[in-house]
Amino acid sequence: MSDDAAVSIRPTIATVDLGAIRHNLEVARRLVPGQAICAVVKADAYGHGMNEVGLTLSRAGVEWLAVALVEEGISLRRVGVKTSILVLGSALGGTLFELVAHNLTAAIYRPDQLEALAMAARGKPVAFHLKIDTGMARLGVRLEELDQVLDALDKTPNLVLDGVLTHFADADLADRDFNSAQLRLFEGACRRLQARGYKPKWQHIANSAAVLSFPEAQVGLLRPGLMIYGLDPLAKRRATELVPAMRWTTRPVHLKTVPQGARISYGGRFVTKRDSRIATLPVGYADGYPRAMSGKAQVLVRGRLVPVVGTICMDLCMADVTDVPEVSLDDEVVLMGRQEGAEVSAYDLATWADTIPYEIICGVGARVPRYYVDSEP
Ligand SMILES: Cc1ncc(COP(=O)(O)O)c(C=O)c1O
Repeated sequence: MSDDAAVSIRPTIATVDLGAIRHNLEVARRLVPGQAICAVVKADAYGHGMNEVGLTLSRAGVEWLAVALVEEGISLRRVGVKTSILVLGSALGGTLFELVAHNLTAAIYRPDQLEALAMAARGKPVAFHLKIDTGMARLGVRLEELDQVLDALDKTPNLVLDGVLTHFADADLADRDFNSAQLRLFEGACRRLQARGYKPKWQHIANSAAVLSFPEAQVGLLRPGLMIYGLDPLAKRRATELVPAMRWTTRPVHLKTVPQGARISYGGRFVTKRDSRIATLPVGYADGYPRAMSGKAQVLVRGRLVPVVGTICMDLCMADVTDVPEVSLDDEVVLMGRQEGAEVSAYDLATWADTIPYEIICGVGARVPRYYVDSEP
C-alpha cells in the first residue's frame, strides 16, 4: 500500500495475491511449454496494481511486459523493472522520445510513426514491433499498407524490426472461423516480411483465450492478460487451474431493522416484503461497484449469499441480511472473491452488470486501497 492509502480507515479494500499472479504465469508456462511470455499489465494490471504486479512477474522471469501507454512503461522503469516492455498503443509524437529514453519498445501501427521513431532515436539503433491489423480495425497497419511500411523501413537502417504482432477480435474465441482467418492473414504478413528479408525475433498473437485453447496460435511470444489475473475468458466459472488474484471486501457501516413495506435507497426501487435487517455497505459506483447491478448483485457474509437491495449509490449500497441475523459491524462482506467455500466471481459481477469480467476488475476504483499478500496457491 502507498503512504497515501495507509491513512484509509474505510473498510472497503481489494486484496491482491501476488502468489496467485506467479501461479497463473506458471499455468501459462505449463500449458505452452518452451514459449516466451509477454504478460499484459496495462490499465494498472487490470486493476491489480501495475507496479507490484510488474515487479512480481519480472522477478518470476517473464520475458516481456505489455502496457498501453508510455507513461505506464515509465512507471514500471521507475520502480526498477528491467524486463523488456512493449507499449501497445499511444506511442505518439513527443512520447516517442520518452519511450526511447526509458528503453521501452513501441508497437508501431501507423506508417508515419516509423520516421518519428527514427528521429526519437537520433540515428541510434532502436528496436520496435510492428502491429498488423488482421480484422480488429483498431490499431495496426492494414495489409495493403505493408509494402509501404517495408519500403520506409528499407530506407531507415536504425529501425530494427524485432517483433510483429496482431490481436484477435474475438478475445473469447467465440468465432473460431474468424480467429483462424486472422491467424492465416497474420502468417501471410509474416511471410511477406520474410520475403523482404525481415526476420523479426518475436511473432505474437496469442491472448489468454489462445493460450488456454487455441494451439495453432500458440506461436512465438504469448501475450496473455486476463489469465494472469486468474480469470479464464472462455469459462463462466473460473478454470480450475487459475487462481483469481483479487479479493474485494468490505464491512457494514450501519445495521438496521426496518418494517415490511420500507423503501430502500434512491427511487424506492426495492420495498421490503417482510420486516428486514438491512446492512449498509461502504461501497458504491464511485468505487467501481456498478450501479447497473442494482436489484441483481449478491454479496457473501458468513459464507452465505445475500442480495444487494435497492439502487446502488455512489458511495454506499444496502444488503438484505435478514436471513443471517447474527451479522455484526465486524463481519467481513465479500463483494468479489471466496468466503467459507462460497464465491462471488468477477463473472457474477459482470453478468449482473451486463458487462465482461475485464471491465469489473479494471473498474475497481482508485480509492479502493490495494493490499498485497503473497501466498502459495
Ligand atoms: C493488444 C492486446 N494483446 C493482448 C491482450 C490480452 O488479452 P487477454 O486479456 O484477453 O489475454 C490485450 C487485452 O486487451 C490487448 O489489447
